[in-house]
Amino acid sequence: MTETRALDIHLGTRKVGTIVALDGERTIFSFAEDYVGDAERPTLSLGYRDAYGALINEPRAHRVRLEPFFSNLLPEGALKEYLARRAGVKAVREFQLLAALGGDLPGAVRAVPTEAAPENIAQVSEVAAAIPERFRFSLAGVQLKFSALKNQGKKGGLTIAVSGDGCEWIVKLPSTNFANVPENEYSIMTLARLVGIDVPEIELLSLAAVEGLPEGIEQLGDSAFAIRRFDRSPEGRIHIEDFAQVFGVYPDDKYEKASYRNILAVLADATDDQSIDQFTRRLTFSVLVGNGDMHLKNWSLIYPDGKRPILSPAYDLLSTVPYLPGEQSALKFRRSKEWSDFNEDTLVRLADKARIAATPVLKAARETVERFDTEWAAQKANLPLPARLIDAIEKHRGGLAL
Ligand SMILES: Nc1ncnc2c1ncn2[C@@H]1O[C@H](COP(=O)(O)OP(=O)(O)OP(=O)(O)O)[C@@H](O)[C@H]1O
Ligand SMILES: [Mg+2]
Repeated sequence: MTETRALDIHLGTRKVGTIVALDGERTIFSFAEDYVGDAERPTLSLGYRDAYGALINEPRAHRVRLEPFFSNLLPEGALKEYLARRAGVKAVREFQLLAALGGDLPGAVRAVPTEAAPENIAQVSEVAAAIPERFRFSLAGVQLKFSALKNQGKKGGLTIAVSGDGCEWIVKLPSTNFANVPENEYSIMTLARLVGIDVPEIELLSLAAVEGLPEGIEQLGDSAFAIRRFDRSPEGRIHIEDFAQVFGVYPDDKYEKASYRNILAVLADATDDQSIDQFTRRLTFSVLVGNGDMHLKNWSLIYPDGKRPILSPAYDLLSTVPYLPGEQSALKFRRSKEWSDFNEDTLVRLADKARIAATPVLKAARETVERFDTEWAAQKANLPLPARLIDAIEKHRGGLAL
């Protein structure tokens, strides 16, 4: 077999373009002609759309890394190393990694070796063929995680299974660096739902209830956090993209290069009122709980009709201040990342810049603060939160200008 040199990029059932490996290091992505010519085309990314809504079709070669949209479909850090090792490719060789994992990417994108006949979409490259099937997936982020399906019957639990459309859950394993991350995420996501944030179905489960875990994984704790995938459904895959993709920023720069002001401006421009309302609630909530990890990859757009995006349901909400005291917000609100700089005046300015009415934004933020304080007081003792985390969150809350 010859090495894969070209990957067709499919969005759902539609081929939208091709990535070609020019030599050992450089790759170039270009759109398919009929996709460019189709006024009714599904949207791959807002990053490929200019201010007038026209497709930006300017193929450019990239060295070693893929261009940002595709680089962002791959995992980061330890998860990237782990999957690359299993695939027998170097983690920096992103084209080969995409060839290996391309059948199961975030959202509705697939990367299929060009040799594969279109009707045989399941055909995999020879790199992919070398990996056990249940490791042939890509999810973004650093934390070790797998795609899984829910066990039927009374016993419950989840099984890490052969990847693909059947896997409708993500299981996140405990962190190797910080204690009680699954408990933290489960609790904060539960609170988020109680204050009016759109949260997918979640579960905190014992690691013993997760079947098919690979051997020898180092971890700190016995619980896992599971969340139902919003980009998978019985009817097929639903396209999503994160804001690193929207802004054409590499995963490494997810804490830089754009601010919450920029995210709100995109939402105001391309989505709906409900998305803006959700953004306001999530941002306010993240400040309240001390979540310093709301970087560009922790905000996503979802394309329910394939063309027009809205803000996706929430994910990866947790309190990070207990682990990193003194940590600031992940992105600048406007000019600064200081928690205490997030106040009503900041929100008014963000709304003005995005050219949206400030009144509903302020109303959503105030409501979030009120509901958070009420729910926190009522729930903190019922949630699986260790005292150390409760204390850290309360100390943080006390220092805010909200
Ligand atoms: N419920 C979900 N449905 C679909 N996609 C999801 C869901 N939850 C997370 N994702 C996708 O998986 C990626 C990784 O998830 P998550 O952000 O929870 O992991 P993480 O490793 O903790 O991230 P980080 O690197 O930010 O710490 C997200 O960036 C998002 O693309
Ligand atoms: Mg994340």
